[in-house]
Amino acid sequence: MGVFLDTLPMSGIVRIRDMMYTVKNPFRLDQGDVSFDAPETFKQGMRKGIEENHTHYLPTLGLPRLRQLIAEKLRTKNGIPVESDDDIIVSNGGTHGIYCALHAVLEPGDEVICPDPLWPPSLAIVRSAHAVPVQVPVREALGFRWDLDELEKAITPKTKAIYINSPTNPSGGALTRADLERIAEMAKARNLWVFSDEAYEDVLFSGEHVSIASLPGMYERTIPIYTMSKTYAVTGVRVGYIAIKDKGMRARAAKVALYTASNVCSIAQYGAIGALEGPQDCIEEFKTELKIRRDLFYAGLKDVTKGALSGNPPNGAFYAFVKIDPAWAASKGLDKGESLSWTVVEHIIKHSRVGCVPGLDFGPASEGYIRFCTCRDRKELTGALESMRAVFA
Ligand SMILES: Cc1ncc(COP(=O)(O)O)c(C=O)c1O
Repeated sequence: MGVFLDTLPMSGIVRIRDMMYTVKNPFRLDQGDVSFDAPETFKQGMRKGIEENHTHYLPTLGLPRLRQLIAEKLRTKNGIPVESDDDIIVSNGGTHGIYCALHAVLEPGDEVICPDPLWPPSLAIVRSAHAVPVQVPVREALGFRWDLDELEKAITPKTKAIYINSPTNPSGGALTRADLERIAEMAKARNLWVFSDEAYEDVLFSGEHVSIASLPGMYERTIPIYTMSKTYAVTGVRVGYIAIKDKGMRARAAKVALYTASNVCSIAQYGAIGALEGPQDCIEEFKTELKIRRDLFYAGLKDVTKGALSGNPPNGAFYAFVKIDPAWAASKGLDKGESLSWTVVEHIIKHSRVGCVPGLDFGPASEGYIRFCTCRDRKELTGALESMRAVFA
């Protein structure tokens, strides 16, 4: 790694976060951190973990009860044919799950087809495995879904895997069952792995969330990746999980998990058990509120920016990925920098204290867009919109 790490970019989201620490009274629409409190079941589980003194080493792959609950959830909720609890690896959030999965499968020089835009750490983790992300643009006109003919053309003899993130961060696009069926056929025909990052499985506003691992013959070549961060509003607690049917790959991923974390925090795992054993009402409650916030933000943005930033509310996740009108940017002299999206983002932060992230950070085809997070509470969203009014006047 050593010198190689110098070549890995730091996520622009982190650069923006550092910028936001210098802003007084900021509106933190730059980070995907839901403002809800964690459900009582999760907190009660953590309290139990502390009170019963579960503060010691654990099995690397997770508490047996938690792995059992996760396997059951994957079978019943996601339709994935998990036969044994042994398939499950509990990870330190979704990020660590992605790391374990990708490092188990990828060899130096392997190509991984990824969407453009995609959450930057996923791209960096592909690179950290010395593999090459090949970004294929999703199309706004298709609801930020791939044109699957374009995707197929991007497959080369070096392609090892396809990275799916549906619903996706940042565009909110969600692949349909038909999309996934076609991707599954391609993967089988070309002997490819699929990484299926389903961090936003519970934030889909219409239609069904389908895991590609549930399609016939796909679980053996798919590593589905999940996190509790968004579903239960526990981004700081750090619990995620992956499932691997292939024993060889699972043994490799287990080594990555061991040598990067030893085990996931015991208290966090007791919280996860509490959440999975309890009622799941918070999922619907969060989703209902997230939809209200999404609509509030898009309506406000239309009013405040008068088309300078535009887009349609997405069907999933909790971001507004909106297009910058180049004519507006030119009228404000913001078209002179190297990157339009960076210049506009820096301008918005400086003049309205509203955090947002440049499209370029998510992939070259996403230049010209910016991302706002719409999962902040209504007061923060309306405050941010009012604060931006002057920028677009
Ligand atoms: C697409 C996607 N995948 C995975 C993650 C990882 O989530 P965490 O590591 O917080 O569980 C995120 C977090 O924002 C995400 O947006």
